[in-house]
Amino acid sequence: MATETLLSTGIPFTSLPDSYVRPPSQRPRLSEVRTCEELPVIDLSTPDMTELARQVRDACESYGFFQITNHGVPQQVVEEMLLVARQFFSLPIEEKMKLYSNDPSKKLRLSTSFNLKKETVHNWRDYLRLHCHPLENFIHEWPTNPPNFKAMVGEYSKQTRELAQRVMKIISLSLGVEGYLEKVLVASQEQHMAINYYPSCPQPELTYGLPAHTDPNVLTILLQDGVAGLQVQKDGQWLAVDPLPSAFVVNIGDQIQALSNGRYRSVWHRAVVNNQRERLSVASFIFPGPNTLIETAAELAGDGGEGRVYRSYCFEEYYKKFWSRTLDDGHCLDCFRV
Ligand code: OGA
Ligand code: NI
Repeated sequence: MATETLLSTGIPFTSLPDSYVRPPSQRPRLSEVRTCEELPVIDLSTPDMTELARQVRDACESYGFFQITNHGVPQQVVEEMLLVARQFFSLPIEEKMKLYSNDPSKKLRLSTSFNLKKETVHNWRDYLRLHCHPLENFIHEWPTNPPNFKAMVGEYSKQTRELAQRVMKIISLSLGVEGYLEKVLVASQEQHMAINYYPSCPQPELTYGLPAHTDPNVLTILLQDGVAGLQVQKDGQWLAVDPLPSAFVVNIGDQIQALSNGRYRSVWHRAVVNNQRERLSVASFIFPGPNTLIETAAELAGDGGEGRVYRSYCFEEYYKKFWSRTLDDGHCLDCFRV
């Protein structure tokens, strides 16, 4: 493997190293991607919960993705998160390499691409991955440089966690199983964050920031800087999401697909890169604890649960499976069909 180091070295690339070049059949074909003007935008300050649930149901059934505005996370908290992320990736390479690891079981690590141990072609991304909940269990091992990293990322993670709880409540309601997701997650719930840094890329047509994948968790709340790059699959077509300032993108993860008996799907998405500008995104992932039983709500499975599409499993089993594969291996949830 040629690249066991970060892309964010401070030295721009003039050509794409061979280890990042996808074979022709797997390339992003950027000219065929349509810009998606209609990705649902949901105003979370809507007072009528029934109306909110209806909008969320429509969005989850048609896209598996939506954007939320008036979400209650202060603009300053969002701006400071992006600022400190940018400062972090601008640190000297020697400083960053102290945090470098390819071991997915680590609760704090800086890495590159996706899963270096498994993949054959690399991705044009560096990322810092952290566990954030309960904060006091993890914050002591977070980076001390930039000096305000802990304060700013800590506040951002708390705010997005609260937001995620509100959204999950609406999702349960929208499925007609009020309180269900909350009940599944009540005993233990984790939150992880991926701070993604996509350098500008000399040949964006030949590679990905992140290739097509579904998120293995419950729910993802994504913050993007102003640079486009996220694409979502709908009816077999790739749609480019135009970043909406002050909105978060929310998407359904594999665990909601399982819990809802496939009624809400964890949709394929990817991040592409460009040759003009670097791009930052911050994904907040709500995860079940390792011992959480993932079992489809009986009300959604028909015949008192006889119509379950997925077998019940402990989340730990799912997560191990996810990291034992590559993103090119298909939907991980297909391994858990009845
Ligand atoms: C992810 C993800 C998209 C993006 O981190 O799971 O899908 O635009 N990120 O960075
Ligand atoms: Ni994702």
